[in-house]
Amino acid sequence: MSIIEVNHVTFGYEENKKVLKDVSFKVEKGSYTTILGHNGSGKSTIAKLLIGLPDVIDEGEIIIGGIKLSEKTLNDVRLQIGIVFQNPDNQFIGSTVRDDIAFGLENLCVPHDDMEPLIREWAGKVNMLDFLDHEPTKLSGGQKQRVAIAGIMAMGPDIIILDEATSMLDPRGRKEINELIHQLNRERQMTILSITHDIEEAALSDAVILLNKGQIVSSGKPEEVLSDVKMIESLKLDVPFAYKVSTQLRAMHLPVDATINNEDLVNTLCQLRSKM
Ligand SMILES: Nc1ncnc2c1ncn2[C@@H]1O[C@H](COP(=O)(O)OP(=O)(O)O)[C@@H](O)[C@H]1O
Ligand SMILES: [Mg+2]
Repeated sequence: MSIIEVNHVTFGYEENKKVLKDVSFKVEKGSYTTILGHNGSGKSTIAKLLIGLPDVIDEGEIIIGGIKLSEKTLNDVRLQIGIVFQNPDNQFIGSTVRDDIAFGLENLCVPHDDMEPLIREWAGKVNMLDFLDHEPTKLSGGQKQRVAIAGIMAMGPDIIILDEATSMLDPRGRKEINELIHQLNRERQMTILSITHDIEEAALSDAVILLNKGQIVSSGKPEEVLSDVKMIESLKLDVPFAYKVSTQLRAMHLPVDATINNEDLVNTLCQLRSKM
């Protein structure tokens, strides 16, 4: 069952300058889906349209949780979605990290007594528990992203849209937060739509949508989409590391299956080694 349906959407910020051209895709309920594409391909525009910003599309329709997005349904639709924008600075409202996470909960009318445990739980999950009394604007980019993610997750929406939401974290921090997001996806069946140009993150998702210059050029399971080397390279994206290594080993006639998954590659290499 799809929780997001985008049907033939065409959109431009200015007349005669279409940023999205006849874009159609579906996101399965409970899936971890990634949208992958180069800068300027229209990824953030898709994210904004999904929450009804801007409110007029030129053509097509967007259906979320079975509700067609319109001026009338906007509030109902937004209740289902949490979004973490590309630049966390635009998202802070509270004067401390605690207030900021509390703000979303207040909007959901969470009783006051329930708030502090929820705030502590989510700040803890993103490793920001020591910063609850800090001013969000004075944090580093990566810390801001952690707080923004905690604030959205604490609200427990059905769908979380992450627009390059871990881009300012170092590789270790990114891995840690991505694992948390995967955990939420598995354990709480939250649908994740992650916008990224991190091919390794896309390799670990259930479905990948490839966007180029406002058009979808490919979509499907990551092992299908990401192993299309010609396509990936033509979009100036990196082929997954595991795929590069596994295909090179195959070219050397070693009994290795091509894979995009680092773990599979490591397992295959260990097996190979034990046979030698
Ligand atoms: N508010 C805006 N007004 C006019 N043009 C915009 C606006 N936001 C984005 N664009 C243009 O739309 C195109 C797609 O941008 P965007 O959706 O931000 O791409 P991405 O997130 O993939 O980098 C770009 O050419 C960008 O310059
Ligand atoms: Mg963007």
